[in-house]
Amino acid sequence: MSGKTVLEILKEQCPTISVGVLTADLMHLEAELDQLAGTDVQILHFDVMDGCFVPMMTVGPPYVKGVKTELLKDVHLMIQDPLDKLDAYIAAGADIVTVHVESCVHIHRVFQQLALSTNANDPARGIVRGVALNPGTPVSAIEPLLDELEMVTLVAINPGWGGQSFVPATFARVELVKELAAKAGRDVLVGVDGGITKANIGDIAKCGADLVVTGSAVFDGKVPADNARFMLEHFGKS
Ligand code: DX5
Ligand code: ZN
Repeated sequence: MSGKTVLEILKEQCPTISVGVLTADLMHLEAELDQLAGTDVQILHFDVMDGCFVPMMTVGPPYVKGVKTELLKDVHLMIQDPLDKLDAYIAAGADIVTVHVESCVHIHRVFQQLALSTNANDPARGIVRGVALNPGTPVSAIEPLLDELEMVTLVAINPGWGGQSFVPATFARVELVKELAAKAGRDVLVGVDGGITKANIGDIAKCGADLVVTGSAVFDGKVPADNARFMLEHFGKS
């Protein structure tokens, strides 16, 4: 990965998956991740939840920092008022930082601040700035932000728990993001996060998303490597 920016790596890898660790055995994550060695998984998705923005609490900067990996750290911040908390996740080695448009009043400022952040793994890599939208948030909310970000993620479940059912309206929302980005002349990556399973990954592959987050379909207590290969076969570079 040396010498390339995170954005260049993502553009090379997409369409691809980002593997959610929420449903892995978080107390033995290193052993769980070792099982993904030998697969083409390149991105790890950390669901940070504060119990305020979403009902669940999960992990914070010390945990994200503690995970030693060569994979990209894709940090999904489901936290209230993230502005003053960004630096801790940057210092923890985040390569991708996704912030919810619903999580603060000055969301535009969040992306301005992220633009000034330095990747703690390697300054040359830069940081990919992402915005996430809950299923109930109009896609138009991204319009004022398109010049300040590199990725838009449509959360296809109501955030807080893995293993929920995919919201079908997400398909049309992917289209809308693409239309708004094209109108703005912005080449943003489109992500879909949540409720993606072996059963629906084929349909989701047709919707034009660049990256999907999948957690419980990979870490289901059986063989994560086989699951990851299945998901990549159905949503990966052909
Ligand atoms: C939910 C998280 C998702 C979720 C994905 O709020 O943002 O990343 O953990 O997990 P699955 O793939 O199990 O829906
Ligand atoms: Zn997530």
